[in-house]
Amino acid sequence: MREREQVPQDFPQDCQELLQTIKSILGTHLGLVKKGLVSTEAEQLLIASYQMEKGEKISRLNFYTQTKKKISPQVVKRSLQFAQLRAQGKLLQHITGFQTFLGHDYEVGPEVLIPRPETEVLLETALKVFEEQGRVPTLGLEIGLGSGILSIELLARYSRLKMVATELQFEARALAQRNALRILGEDAQGSLRLEILAANQSLEVWEPFERHQSLPRADFLISNPPYLGSLAEVDEEVWHQEPWEALFAPPEDILFFYRQVVSRASEFIQPGGMILMEVPHERADEIKSLFLGLKAHIEVVKDLNQRDRVLVVRA
Ligand SMILES: C[S@@+](CC[C@H](N)C(=O)[O-])C[C@H]1O[C@@H](n2cnc3c(N)ncnc32)[C@H](O)[C@@H]1O
Repeated sequence: MREREQVPQDFPQDCQELLQTIKSILGTHLGLVKKGLVSTEAEQLLIASYQMEKGEKISRLNFYTQTKKKISPQVVKRSLQFAQLRAQGKLLQHITGFQTFLGHDYEVGPEVLIPRPETEVLLETALKVFEEQGRVPTLGLEIGLGSGILSIELLARYSRLKMVATELQFEARALAQRNALRILGEDAQGSLRLEILAANQSLEVWEPFERHQSLPRADFLISNPPYLGSLAEVDEEVWHQEPWEALFAPPEDILFFYRQVVSRASEFIQPGGMILMEVPHERADEIKSLFLGLKAHIEVVKDLNQRDRVLVVRA
């Protein structure tokens, strides 16, 4: 009762009416209007507010069945606050606190890159290539763990796999660990199979693996490294709110991570092993030519927008 009294009389109490109010708030964000995202994001914010109250994930269909017409004052208040924040430009995932990646909900925040749909192509390519080769990988390396999506999705699919992953940011390492615990569970079959190593500075790439005292050569390396070159390559909303260490390559060499991988991969990956990396489509040819020196089979896979996105190097 107390909660109900706190809600002003003119707040919408009906689900459809509330959705309309949220849409009209989001309609003041020109970027959302231009991209045609007002309706979908309004619904996502409303469902996220409801999930926070329930403390559990629900599908869109279940949301509408459960709420029918009425919705609680707390959800009304929270969703309107969310809508205001979104209209002011705060990223949707920073408001809801999560992003879904290949069926799992990952906690995200300002300390990590929000998982992108293009990166699903990287993961799916890895799975396809392992299957084609009839391989069940047992040891994988990742450079630039972020929220943990790549290593965690692989660990969720291969029960005998161990991943050793590097990450520069302390807060990102802690967040990835939380995602691993939640998604994989706490025992040896789960998150214990993810070992997270610190990169001490942005120009360290192989050094964390080198410091590891007992790392055998791995079956593969997977990485979505920072690869952007300038602010012009991303929306203002993104470069204002996502970590620059995740977005931008070192300014002195835009291909830094790719060059580093080419130069030392054979020390850390066993003969016949694989390298899978996300690439910026504008520089895919240049990156591909860097890897020609490895005398391996090289393939570039396109993303859903038919842009070059994933580099696969097979020895
Ligand atoms: C593009 S994000 C990718 C994150 C995640 N793997 C994904 O696909 O969403 C790159 C990540 O690399 C981290 N990073 C940047 N420089 C690094 C370095 N030298 N060594 C390890 N990680 C680094 C960033 O902090 C960021 O989390």
